[in-house]
Amino acid sequence: MNALLQPRAVRRPMTVRDVDAVAAVEATAYGFPWSRGNFVDSLAAGYLAEVLDGGDAGLLGYFVAMPGVDELHLLNITVAPAWQGRGLGSELLDAVRRHAADRGFAQLWLEVREGNHRARALYRRRGFAEVGLRRGYYPAAGGREDAVVMSLALGARHAVD
Ligand SMILES: CC(C)(COP(=O)(O)OP(=O)(O)OC[C@H]1O[C@@H](n2cnc3c(N)ncnc32)[C@H](O)[C@@H]1OP(=O)(O)O)[C@@H](O)C(=O)NCCC(=O)NCCS
Repeated sequence: MNALLQPRAVRRPMTVRDVDAVAAVEATAYGFPWSRGNFVDSLAAGYLAEVLDGGDAGLLGYFVAMPGVDELHLLNITVAPAWQGRGLGSELLDAVRRHAADRGFAQLWLEVREGNHRARALYRRRGFAEVGLRRGYYPAAGGREDAVVMSLALGARHAVD
């Protein structure tokens, strides 16, 4: 990787001041993006949310996760399209996992579009198991798309450790 192409990124909590930039990245990353209000509501609800702040390079990525009783549910993890494929998504996912383990959650859960093979492969390599399917969970161009439910038992070491 060329260091000149990798800005110095700082991971920090997402605040309402980030939401315009987050929503702008979100709109470029998904066909059916979260709205600005979804992010505002997540912050108001006290969900765990962080951004990767690239300084002059702008907002590189972010995640939002909802704490449950003994599990953390990863609702959104995104890297800005121009910065994908450089390890930032893996870095964010590892941060989510550390947060979950540090807070004593037993499991990390997420849903991913059945057709999002790149994200599914990333999660599998990080130790997630595909444990279920939610039929028609997502809006899609031709109707609805299924969600694959994935879970990671914390304490389990991922495949590349
Ligand atoms: C999914 C996403 C978060 C991954 O972030 P990323 O920064 O691109 O991922 P990384 O660079 O860490 O790469 C993760 C893996 O994908 C591989 N990869 C990178 N670019 C790739 C490409 N163009 N095609 C296939 N695999 C690729 C990497 O080799 C890496 O594999 P490794 O873990 O074995 O090294 C990001 O692509 C994204 O935001 N996509 C759009 C939104 C989305 O789908 N979010 C997830 C919804 S559940």
